[in-house]
Amino acid sequence: MSQITVRVDGVTYTDEVEPRTLLVHYLREQLGKVGTVVGCDTSNCGACTVHLDGAAVKSCTVLAVQADGSEVTTIEGLAAEDGTLHPVQKAFHEMHGLQCGFCTPGMIMASVDLLKENPHPSESEIREGIEGNLCRCTGYQNIVRAVRQAAGEMSAPETTGAQA
Ligand code: FES
Ligand code: FES
Repeated sequence: MSQITVRVDGVTYTDEVEPRTLLVHYLREQLGKVGTVVGCDTSNCGACTVHLDGAAVKSCTVLAVQADGSEVTTIEGLAAEDGTLHPVQKAFHEMHGLQCGFCTPGMIMASVDLLKENPHPSESEIREGIEGNLCRCTGYQNIVRAVRQAAGEMSAPETTGAQA
């Protein structure tokens, strides 16, 4: 067993893990973060996508020991502390960017990373940015619309309500 210390969704955990334990299994089985799901056993579907030190990774391709000393954000840590949804979560909801919802946690985490890298993506850039995430319901049209809406919202100037 190896000891790891990882900060997940703002909470620091120190745990013993088997060296072969995958990050996704550590998150789900040891921490109960079941919002991150496993959709394949071939590293293809992206359902398990989380952020590792700010970058999207498929957590079934990372060993838990490789996350030692790192910061992980899962879909469960994306909303604000007061429960306000992240703009990408909100947009998926409003634009019906999900059907069965199985791919949604990974899609959202990948989309957040995409918008951080490219705040104004074209439709083809969005499709390219999420190409590592598969939607078995083939709901891509609304997923792309949701990412576009989130991009617009996130780049809109803050409204302070102050009058000149
Ligand atoms: S479960 Fe990780 S890519 Fe499919
Ligand atoms: S909404 Fe069902 S897999 Fe994408």
